[in-house]
Amino acid sequence: MNDQKHLWKPWDEENFSNPYPMYKALQQSDPIHFSQTKEWIITRYEDVRTVLRDNRFVAGNRLDWIKRGIAYLNNKEMDFQAIASAMSHFLLFLNPPQHTRVRKFIHSVWTNRDIEPLIRSGTRDLISQLPKQQFDIVKDFGQVLPALTMANILGIPSADHRYLKSLALNLIKAMDLYISVKDLVLIHQSAKEFIDYFSVTLQEKRMKEDGLLHKIIVANEKSDEPLTNNELISISIFLFTAGVETTSGVIGTGVYNLINRNQWHERDPEAWDLCIDELLRYDSPVQLLGRISTEEIELGGKTIPKGSTVTLCLGAANRDPELFDQPDELILTRNQNRHLAFGSGIHFCMGDWLGKLQARIALEELVKTYPTSSAVTQDLKWNKNLAIRSLTEFKVAVT
Ligand code: HEM
Repeated sequence: MNDQKHLWKPWDEENFSNPYPMYKALQQSDPIHFSQTKEWIITRYEDVRTVLRDNRFVAGNRLDWIKRGIAYLNNKEMDFQAIASAMSHFLLFLNPPQHTRVRKFIHSVWTNRDIEPLIRSGTRDLISQLPKQQFDIVKDFGQVLPALTMANILGIPSADHRYLKSLALNLIKAMDLYISVKDLVLIHQSAKEFIDYFSVTLQEKRMKEDGLLHKIIVANEKSDEPLTNNELISISIFLFTAGVETTSGVIGTGVYNLINRNQWHERDPEAWDLCIDELLRYDSPVQLLGRISTEEIELGGKTIPKGSTVTLCLGAANRDPELFDQPDELILTRNQNRHLAFGSGIHFCMGDWLGKLQARIALEELVKTYPTSSAVTQDLKWNKNLAIRSLTEFKVAVT
């Protein structure tokens, strides 16, 4: 057996670019691993899925962790309260009954899924503005499209989407495994600007009958148990932020994987759907999720004590040979692809359809516009955060 003390190395540079050998070593020798960081690292598909669907494992550890960090820094006369306030109603961190209430509320107002034409025209506009011959698929396109789409869905001026995108990319750093005080200052500034932006916008949207924000305000006013203004602001921030880095991740990494394997060609819509699911399985944008055990729980022959932090490796589960044939191969026609890229259980992604739709339209339109494409960036730069897998830049040459 391997030396199990050093199986989990979330800060190693090589794992940012390729975490899969580390996952494989964990999966093969200790799939429910108690690490030197005092968390339980879970890498088998069935175990990850079981934990996500077991309500004795709860969400929220991330927000507690951020709040503890903030409380500590507040003692040092630094003010980071806006971070906790902006994130207080992020669905990801809530548990029943509050989670059920907010999720139901969003479901009841977010009913319009008929937005393919809107995404397609946004995509074509963005492509028409790209620099000729060479551009950065991540910065010039992948991070911009989801922000533009969400601005359109919420009903906020599309001119604001680039500003809000930069706030979202800063705020999402709070999900990093390890953050510095410098990061916290940046996250705090973005949280403050987000709160200011949505305080004003929610007021304005009360009177303007378009977009999801207007529907949210009206439904809330009619509700027996209305959410507070601060709660509505936090929900709006989350809806805007949740899809930016994740959708950008699948577009950027997807373009890279297609080019790298000579798979840059047109497909029919069904083939694109299979292709997007396989890109999501093969290089999942969300690699890690966290939960806390509320009691002592038996899992796969191990006893997880009450109050333990459990880290679920979606990226490992999605390459588990027990579930997927040739798990380390990108098979773009793979059928029955039951990957966990969108999680499972009560926190299952509410924008899975939207993330996939945007990725499909983006890749379809890019391939149609540019029949040939090659990588300019040779030395790939991956996000230095194991939890979110994305390229920070990827320059391509197109004709
Ligand atoms: C390809 C793109 C995307 C990926 C890979 C992704 C992935 C995920 C994952 C793994 C979760 C579960 C988190 C957990 O269990 O703790 C989640 C939750 C969520 N996602 Fe996505 N997401 C994507 C796009 C989007 C988009 C476009 C939206 C639109 C707003 C969105 C909204 C949400 C929401 C609201 C939740 C929280 C659900 C809850 O806690 O009940 N996501 N996402």
